[in-house]
Amino acid sequence: YGVLGHTLTGQIAQLFLTPKTASQISAILPDSYEGLLSNAAPWPDKIRFLDQYKWATPMHFVNPPNDKPPEVCQFDYIYGGQDNVNAIFNTTATMKQFQLTPPANVKDEKTREEALKFFVHFMGDIHQPLHDSTPFRGGNDAPIKFGKTKSNLHSLWDTLLLTKDVKERFGDNPQAYLDDTIKLTKTLWKSEVANWTSCDPADSQPANPWSSVTKQIKTVCPIQWATVTNALDCTYVWKDYSPTRDYSTDYFQKVTGSSSDFLYQKLLAQSGIRMAAVLNDIFDPESSSS
Ligand code: ADE
Ligand code: ZN
Ligand code: ZN
Repeated sequence: YGVLGHTLTGQIAQLFLTPKTASQISAILPDSYEGLLSNAAPWPDKIRFLDQYKWATPMHFVNPPNDKPPEVCQFDYIYGGQDNVNAIFNTTATMKQFQLTPPANVKDEKTREEALKFFVHFMGDIHQPLHDSTPFRGGNDAPIKFGKTKSNLHSLWDTLLLTKDVKERFGDNPQAYLDDTIKLTKTLWKSEVANWTSCDPADSQPANPWSSVTKQIKTVCPIQWATVTNALDCTYVWKDYSPTRDYSTDYFQKVTGSSSDFLYQKLLAQSGIRMAAVLNDIFDPESSSS
């Protein structure tokens, strides 16, 4: 996502934190963040081009090997490299580890702060269907038209759809978009919201270097999230792809409007609610069901 998408996922998550989690997050982040996840969420994109953070570039996405939308959407994840799934395990394990053994020096404090900032960001990216899609570099190399503008499928999903929806339905007011999203979690999506934070204990976690720690966090299942998000690449995102199609008309209506249950908004809501569930699980384990 772009800055607005990441900001919204942080704002949504903030509303679902327990007071105990919120106060610990406030203590971990620098004062300038004012304790807000929404101020942390865009950070990994701002530092992306600095040499010291080059290692994090592949962690913004995951490219499943046999994924061939629009016909075949397959998230047959093979655990191994540095990717978005791996990064979510890594950052949750790091936060949990420091919860069990608090940082002993400034370097460890920095590691914990960065794990939180990366986690909040990567939880957004994993819910952007093109961050879980392989062809054409996740749509970055798939040209499209958007009204009079030339763009690509990836930017469409990172920013263009959101910006247009906020402008057209909410008078260009992101707060109104946020309020509407929260309202939908309590109305239209109410019955499914509880399922958003339940991981299948059977196969939600691959063996990973942090397994002994991540297994203690029952709400973290990035493979499950990515599998469901990746399926949307066939049903919506890459469906009837054409570089000459204008994506600002019927396609825009379909993925942002009521006929898809407000799909674009729902992905942001899922990101925020799952982010909050994992953070509550780590920082206020008494509060969660696990
Ligand atoms: N670069 C290569 N694959 C990508 C993807 N799926 N999303 C974003 N950037 C990428
Ligand atoms: Zn992106
Ligand atoms: Zn990113």
